[in-house]
Amino acid sequence: MTSEFPPTKSLSKSSTEPSLDDSVQRRSLIAALVVAAAIACIAVVLLVLPATNRDPYTRQTLDLQGSAENGGKLFLINCAGCHGIAGQGLVGPNLHAVANRKNQRQLIQQVVSGKTPPMPRFQPEPQAMADLLAYLNSLV
Ligand code: HEC
Repeated sequence: MTSEFPPTKSLSKSSTEPSLDDSVQRRSLIAALVVAAAIACIAVVLLVLPATNRDPYTRQTLDLQGSAENGGKLFLINCAGCHGIAGQGLVGPNLHAVANRKNQRQLIQQVVSGKTPPMPRFQPEPQAMADLLAYLNSLV
């Protein structure tokens, strides 16, 4: 009668309780995934972000010495219609202290990307872009 029961019990016990090996393996798998995710984040910071700095147009522009005076002339011709003759804002936003809101690379992208209509995409020569940048930096 009772002779069948103990074997069944011991069978079910061994199949439901995870062995010590299993939980150690699972824990080291999770640790490995965490390490892999951390390495991926570091790779993004070290490899991908500097790559955006290596865009040749941006790099060339940032290597040049800009003239705020020339930039001001370019601004009157190309930008003042929307941003106002003193950059005080009109259709486009006020640009005073814009260099505190956006870094140099973002300012260049703003001018050349055309990603924020109605502001058009400009394609100034690197020297003209450096001049415009110097002018934007001078708007305090
Ligand atoms: C047709 C109108 C128009 C012209 C021309 C124009 N802009 Fe703009 N600009 C805008 C508008 C609109 C925005 C806001 C875009 C947005 O963020 O949605 C803007 C945004 C900007 C910004 C970012 C401002 C901020 O607060 O982040 C900068 C910098 C800028 N323009 C510079 C220029 C320069 C330099 C020129 C000339 C080369 C120019 N713009 C010409 C309409 C114009």
